[in-house]
Amino acid sequence: MAVLDAEFAQGFIRLCNDGWEQGWHERNGGNLSYRMKAEEVEEVRSDLKFDAAWQPIGTSVPALAGEFFMVTGSGKYFRNVILDPEANTCIIELDDKGENFRIVWGLVKGGRPTSELPSHLMNLEVKKKINPDYRVVYHAHTTNTIALTFVLPLKDEIFTRELWEMATECPVVFPDGIGVVHWMVPGGRDIAVATSDLMKKYDVAIWAHHGMFCAGTDFDMTFGLMHTVEKSAEILVKVLSMGGKKQTIQPDEFRHLAKDFGVTLPEKFLYEK
Ligand code: 13P
Ligand code: ZN
Repeated sequence: MAVLDAEFAQGFIRLCNDGWEQGWHERNGGNLSYRMKAEEVEEVRSDLKFDAAWQPIGTSVPALAGEFFMVTGSGKYFRNVILDPEANTCIIELDDKGENFRIVWGLVKGGRPTSELPSHLMNLEVKKKINPDYRVVYHAHTTNTIALTFVLPLKDEIFTRELWEMATECPVVFPDGIGVVHWMVPGGRDIAVATSDLMKKYDVAIWAHHGMFCAGTDFDMTFGLMHTVEKSAEILVKVLSMGGKKQTIQPDEFRHLAKDFGVTLPEKFLYEK
């Protein structure tokens, strides 16, 4: 089967376009990765080419050795993915050590995978070890979440609690909370290590003054998570712009919600203010 006829590729392209339509992907902002299932690799194997040179990932992900990933290209625009997926995305294969990759499909007009490949692969590796069903990592330049990183203290507890308070669904959608990475140079191993460390605990990591990373089991879950967090951030921006909260959801009300919805909310987020 041709890659572009496969369901995973269609889902990948749709997410890119949905993110573009949300306004999260100015220019080449943001990137997406998907860890393919073994049967998906077999499904499209006849459309892959195995003659490109191996290149260093820039980090080591031994638990992902030999796996295949669909990823966006570096410098490519999300708005163009739907028009020409073969020029703006690619499929890469990792070597048997998880240290090098080669392009086996896509980027037909040249280019390389996203500069955030170390973060994507390290996050996917951490998540795979916890739950092998995790397959998607999505990075977007979400406007309101970024705005909040200029105003709120850059602490996991504070971002989680403030965003939980802005929409009753939030503690149900991201009960484990949100991690925050202080400002760091993007595109390298250091920020990948910091982010993947947070991904051991959370499905969401905010990069101060830059954007957000979300991880999930499929495209719907991952996009939905990004959308929920950013919507909540938008409400908080509006509330702060209107002069701040006059009333809100209280810690005991969150505990009540957790009981009725069958989720566990860590007490560290339910501090008294
Ligand atoms: P790429 O174009 O290399 O994916 O980079 C975009 C980005 O958002 C970097 O953080
Ligand atoms: Zn970015």
